[in-house]
Amino acid sequence: MAAITACIFDLDGVIVDTAVYHYKAWKQLANQLGFDFTEEANEKLKGISRKESLELILNWGGVSKTDAEREDLAHRKNNWYVEMISEMTPREILPGAEEFLKSLKIDGYKVALGSASKNAGIILAKVGLTDYFDSIVDGNIVTASKPDPKVFLKGAEMLGTAPAECVVFEDAIAGIEAAKAGGMKVIGIGSAATLSGADLVIAGLHEMSIEILKKL
Ligand code: BG6
Ligand code: MG
Repeated sequence: MAAITACIFDLDGVIVDTAVYHYKAWKQLANQLGFDFTEEANEKLKGISRKESLELILNWGGVSKTDAEREDLAHRKNNWYVEMISEMTPREILPGAEEFLKSLKIDGYKVALGSASKNAGIILAKVGLTDYFDSIVDGNIVTASKPDPKVFLKGAEMLGTAPAECVVFEDAIAGIEAAKAGGMKVIGIGSAATLSGADLVIAGLHEMSIEILKKL
């Protein structure tokens, strides 16, 4: 079994608590269209691209829209979302995330971001974490939505690391599936009941350490 030499992080819900902003903005859009969706349904949106999330939401509401209207709705949701993230500060880094990134640097691990978000660069800059990443793969570079493994495979390629030497940190079911499909280890962030496909599930990066990484 290959030893882990690189870590690839999802962003929303792993490093920063933006999952809640995505939820709020989508909910606002659904409510404007005259329906609602549950937090349970929202789990299915995590890790999924903006375009695909909108398709799912419109399906749940039984609403059909033209391509041009879809463009407009996705744009509307993103404007609300960008407004919310423009207020972000380093205080919104999730507990333990910066400390763990720091310890990875000290121990010489390679670090990449593997996010579906087209707003990933703005968020990392807002919270001051950009410099911890050797490579950044976001929704502008890879448009295939998780569970497609491309976003993580691109990250491994940019780091020059074999997939078997990478571990992915993910809070989304689709992200866990993407990491597995890419031949990588995966640590779920959240509840073990929801993220049962992961090699290990922790509540957050505050529970993570180099020792755990070495035992994977
Ligand atoms: C992922 C989120 O990180 O990014 C999804 O988990 C989101 O909820 C996706 O839809 C795309 O984000 P954005 O910022 O490009 O709309
Ligand atoms: Mg996420």
